[in-house]
Amino acid sequence: MRSTKSLRQLCRVAPVMLGLCVIPAGGAFAGVASPPRPPEAIYAKTCGYCHGARVGPIIRGRKLPVEVITTYVRSGPRAMPAFRPTEISNAELAALAKWINATKADPKEIGE
Ligand code: HEC
Repeated sequence: MRSTKSLRQLCRVAPVMLGLCVIPAGGAFAGVASPPRPPEAIYAKTCGYCHGARVGPIIRGRKLPVEVITTYVRSGPRAMPAFRPTEISNAELAALAKWINATKADPKEIGE
């Protein structure tokens, strides 16, 4: 009777404990601990494919709020694709949004 009860208790807390063990540090959900890429690199490789290259609007040098950038990247409205945390981690996105907000406009970039 006693052991059945403690087993039941263990079953109740086990998923919680497992969940705590599985969450990786640093906000990367892929389970593979790769170091966060610098915002300049993500912008150049991913965002700059459209932004500043005649496809999307210019987003640098406009002091766009960090929340607006984050929301666009995660939801991908209209012609813009959404990016999942497996593609751009939460930590990377936070740094990227801050960088875009603070960075100056690049005169070489062309808006749509
Ligand atoms: C495949 C092309 C494409 C890529 C890649 C892309 N975007 Fe966009 N983005 C767009 C388009 C098109 C819009 C305009 C969407 C609309 O109709 O509102 C846009 C809009 C935005 C806006 C809103 C700008 C405004 O004037 O309000 C932000 C912020 C933004 N994108 C950030 C990003 C970031 C950060 C990345 C990189 C992680 C990125 N985008 C990658 C095409 C792209």
